[in-house]
Amino acid sequence: MRVWISGGGGFVGSNIVRAAVDGGHDVLTTAHTFVPPPDAAYAVSKVDMTNGADVRASIDSFDPDLVVHCAIMNDWDRMYADRQASWNAYVNATRHTAQAAIEGVDASYVLVSTDWVFDGTQGGADELTPPNPINLYGTLKLASEMVALEAGGAVARVSGVNGQHLARPSTPRAQDRGFGYFVASIVDSLSANEPFTVWEADDINMVATPSLALECGEIMLAIGEKHGTGVFHCCGADAVTRRDLAELTCDVFDLDADLLDFGPPDPASMLAAPVPYDTSLTTPRTDRILGRTATPVRTLIERFREQYAAQVGEPS
Ligand SMILES: NC(=O)c1ccc[n+]([C@@H]2O[C@H](COP(=O)([O-])OP(=O)(O)OC[C@H]3O[C@@H](n4cnc5c(N)ncnc54)[C@H](OP(=O)(O)O)[C@@H]3O)[C@@H](O)[C@H]2O)c1
Repeated sequence: MRVWISGGGGFVGSNIVRAAVDGGHDVLTTAHTFVPPPDAAYAVSKVDMTNGADVRASIDSFDPDLVVHCAIMNDWDRMYADRQASWNAYVNATRHTAQAAIEGVDASYVLVSTDWVFDGTQGGADELTPPNPINLYGTLKLASEMVALEAGGAVARVSGVNGQHLARPSTPRAQDRGFGYFVASIVDSLSANEPFTVWEADDINMVATPSLALECGEIMLAIGEKHGTGVFHCCGADAVTRRDLAELTCDVFDLDADLLDFGPPDPASMLAAPVPYDTSLTTPRTDRILGRTATPVRTLIERFREQYAAQVGEPS
């Protein structure tokens, strides 16, 4: 397939690009500030996703079979401070990419979305569970989902995304109120023999269904190959707490679990907005349509260890 991916310079996007290149597809990704390496195995086009003409020109000229819209304005303070900019960057960017893909070049379309469209009381939500976002990010993602679905596209909700950022050599990998980068931040601390406090509190995301970013990319490509429409859940098979995932990480990476402790979050990392508590997902529709079975969380973390060893080296 010819695959056009927005935001390949980001964490999730760089893994979708890798999955597509490794799968033998012809790939073009957009860059906004990202500078690709000179030997990149994919094409790059400078695109501002909030500019409909830019987006259309790039998709028209590449003429893809599949468009995956992954780029995001990832700035919570700006999101709340400038509602119009946020609407443009989330909802209108989804409209630009969906229209250019589906109406423009008759490509399949996948919008990358999130488990944070749920309110945190809907644990085990499947693809048909009605969402109920409780913060602006979830609201913008849900509005974007509606645009993608009504245009005839697919929504791929990723959750608890772990793995390596494949486009930038050094990125901040700190624990936050979600599950993203959680495993990498534990591995980084414990392999440097530093203690790690696993946050536990009622007002952070405490339960989720972790995924591996690279496998999320593979699932999105499978959606494209099957011309999938509707909602898909890109995650593993198991709902876990932060404590479960921390202990599993120590086990899989052979790290000293005595360096873990458990306590309240760093107040500086808290948001002035509510955060869903239990965003665990299930995957019945995804498994049925794609003919797959969700991967156990241990297998995902083992695969991450292989990826980590290949890129960073074995943790000490
Ligand atoms: N990370 C997670 O844990 C997580 C969890 C659930 C869902 N998601 C979803 O995954 C997707 C990607 O998230 P991420 O964490 O990978 O984000 P990220 O690392 O911050 O990457 C964001 C990407 O968006 C691009 N971008 C920003 N503004 C742009 C603009 N105006 N025009 C074009 N591109 C622009 C950036 O391009 P440059 O690099 O070129 O600047 C970057 O590649 C999002 O849809 C998000 O909702 C992520």
